[in-house]
Amino acid sequence: MKETIRVVNGKAKAKPDPNALGFGSYFTDHMFMMDYSNEQGWHDPRIVPYAPLQLDPAAMVLHYGQAVFEGLKAYRAEDGRVLLFRPGRNAARFNLSNERLTMPQMDESDFIEAVKALVAVDAGWVPELPGASLYIRPFIIATEAALGVRPSSRYLFVIILSPVGSYYGQGMKPVDIYVEDRYVRAVRGGLGVAKTPANYASSLKAQELAKREHYDQVLWLDAVESRYIEEVGSMNVFFRINGEFVTPLLSGSILDGVTRSSIIELINAWGYEVSERRIAIDEVYRAHAEGTLQEVFGTGTAAVVAPVGSLCWNGERIEIGRGEAGEMAARLYETLTGIQYGRLPDEFGWTVTCLE
Ligand code: COI
Repeated sequence: MKETIRVVNGKAKAKPDPNALGFGSYFTDHMFMMDYSNEQGWHDPRIVPYAPLQLDPAAMVLHYGQAVFEGLKAYRAEDGRVLLFRPGRNAARFNLSNERLTMPQMDESDFIEAVKALVAVDAGWVPELPGASLYIRPFIIATEAALGVRPSSRYLFVIILSPVGSYYGQGMKPVDIYVEDRYVRAVRGGLGVAKTPANYASSLKAQELAKREHYDQVLWLDAVESRYIEEVGSMNVFFRINGEFVTPLLSGSILDGVTRSSIIELINAWGYEVSERRIAIDEVYRAHAEGTLQEVFGTGTAAVVAPVGSLCWNGERIEIGRGEAGEMAARLYETLTGIQYGRLPDEFGWTVTCLE
């Protein structure tokens, strides 16, 4: 970072019960902030007490949605070190999203330095409970006060931190999925490749309708033919059919998940191929009918690996794995979390020590 990060210390809040963290409900004592203007570029990096933001009601993010975010975690290893998992991938994707939303680029090393500096200040918030972690949420919003439709000339970069519990209590519980063929999440040429709030806003309606029918999440199909599988909930998705691993090709409407690419590398390292290709929902149903659909699972930062226990498409419900997590989903979950928490050797060089 060109400027030194200014630190303004705040009061320490009471910490929540580590056994009841849930996801994204508690926030730490500090946040990182940095401003951007067309004239000055990125400037004034600072760590300040966690507090509400002051925004002009005409701030462009509130009207035309120029916003981008990231999600990664800091893990407490058994020896007390704090580890990050592939933060460079998040930094690179942040810029890809910024590019799509006509927002400014940021040096990847500045992104990582800001994350590390904030985690260091709030290190006492990295949970020690096995399976818990500190979720890191960097984001940028357009702050110029103007109502003309054009890119903002001013932005605010913020990082907040939230201690989160293990996604799973006892064992991995497979999720029940509704295959959505009416609403779409994203379309090629649209915003699907970017981690931007609009994609999550567009997912809420289908998700609520599915929840009402007691499904956990929806499986998204492509926006053109309503046939090719894209994502599951806010996760990437994998299938194991007759020994072949398949995950949808990054076709322009699918997020390039950090967990997704790590899972592909792990599966490859174990000697199996992963086909990144188009996969149609009818192919999955046919495989089920033929008895060759072995496993379906989602992958993402929050859950790591989420086995799918059933799918419902066109009124037909199929069961996968008799209510249990598949063998490969369980092995991938154990291995990936083992690397993230420093329990297993990091042969891929994925972990970055944040604090010794
Ligand atoms: C994921 O980690 O799977 C997500 O997409 C996180 C979500 C809270 C945005």
